[in-house]
Amino acid sequence: MPKNIMKRTTILVGAQWGDEGKGKIIDLLTENSDIIVRYQGGNNAGHTVRYGDKKFILHLLPSGILHPGKKCVIGNGVVIDLEAFFHEIEILRESNVFVKNRLFVSDRAHLIFPYHRLLDQLREGQKGSGKIGTTKRGIGPCYADKADRLGIRVADLMNPKVFRDRLTYVLKEQNHILQAVYRHQPFSFSKIHREYTHYRDRLSPFVCSTELLLAEAHRAKKRILFEGAQGTHLDVDHGTYPYVTSSNASAGGAITGTGLSPAHIEEVIGVVKAYTTRVGEGPFPTEFPPALMAMVRELGEEFGATTGRPRRCGWFDALLVKHSVLVNGLSKMAVTKLDVLDTLPTIKICVAYQYKGKQFRNFPADQEVLAHAKPVYVECPGWLEQTSHIREWKKLPAKAKSYLTRLEDMLETRISIVSIGSERLQTIFIDGK
Ligand code: IMP
Repeated sequence: MPKNIMKRTTILVGAQWGDEGKGKIIDLLTENSDIIVRYQGGNNAGHTVRYGDKKFILHLLPSGILHPGKKCVIGNGVVIDLEAFFHEIEILRESNVFVKNRLFVSDRAHLIFPYHRLLDQLREGQKGSGKIGTTKRGIGPCYADKADRLGIRVADLMNPKVFRDRLTYVLKEQNHILQAVYRHQPFSFSKIHREYTHYRDRLSPFVCSTELLLAEAHRAKKRILFEGAQGTHLDVDHGTYPYVTSSNASAGGAITGTGLSPAHIEEVIGVVKAYTTRVGEGPFPTEFPPALMAMVRELGEEFGATTGRPRRCGWFDALLVKHSVLVNGLSKMAVTKLDVLDTLPTIKICVAYQYKGKQFRNFPADQEVLAHAKPVYVECPGWLEQTSHIREWKKLPAKAKSYLTRLEDMLETRISIVSIGSERLQTIFIDGK
């Protein structure tokens, strides 16, 4: 990989609705990094990474953990399910990947509790057609508690007295909601207290002030890579609200979610799929009709890495990604899964939305427009050749290069990586064309 493909302090974000293939790109960029940092989300993520002849799906730990010698940080903006955390460490240990002395967890990160998972399920169950289609991992209720000053942080768990007092207070509130609103049985204080006290001893060696660790690493000129989870359009501020996750999945989240100064960030790279997918509910103007959907889903193996749900698939939406270029300040893009389009005779790119006689060239916030807009497409001829064996830009079929160049022009952003398969080697680095 060319050394200049990334700068010393780089944020990598998904530029669509998640599942852009960030796991593979992070894995590649990890080679050029010293520290890899997760800054938001939790075990709702599913980053698929190949390591040797094995495939790992990491939900909570930074993908860099598969590289021996690299340090990994779970920042304060992440919500941590300790059961998932230790389960993932165990899976890695079984494959001789060890995390001791190289995995660091922020003492300010918030913890997911069993009542968060339950509330996520109960709320989704009650919403009927208004449901979000969450991963039911308790992510939303945990972030809601954080904002409502009802959260419990890692530092709170580490102090037995604080933890006892805090859990007593918080559980009273949670049990009240469970009983009064959902007619559900309350949680037992002693059961949760026992379970989490047990976690305390196991978690303690990983806990530190990660903002200090990162500030020192930056001063020592270490290379820091921020691993965004989900995607910009699932961001609670910039996404297709309310069909979003509950964290800042865009580049801004890397600042609030780690405590590293924005002045230290040198670049933001966006990962985009060569077409579009989304899991869960919410507007999707360029969604394919059923037959094409089934075909591309099969070709692209588009099934959720966390929940196994089939992903919805559609044409590339330039308005969607243009919005991501803007709110993240993308300077480069990595385009993934180009090979999935190899057999399509015509490939469409959405360049505008049409709604009630008005044409939209920028991604609108209005839910009604998004739900009913008719996409305006330009058509590109398909290349109808296999690309997954190609390793150089100049060897790509002319029509594939033309499709990618068209995307670059529309988005005013350079493509520096093209992925044409899940293996590390199935990658084209573009270092000047
Ligand atoms: P939550 O994050 O579980 O609350 O789910 C909220 C929305 O974000 C749902 O539409 C999920 O399908 C979606 N979502 C959450 N995490 C991911 C992800 O890693 N990839 C794709 N979609 C996600």
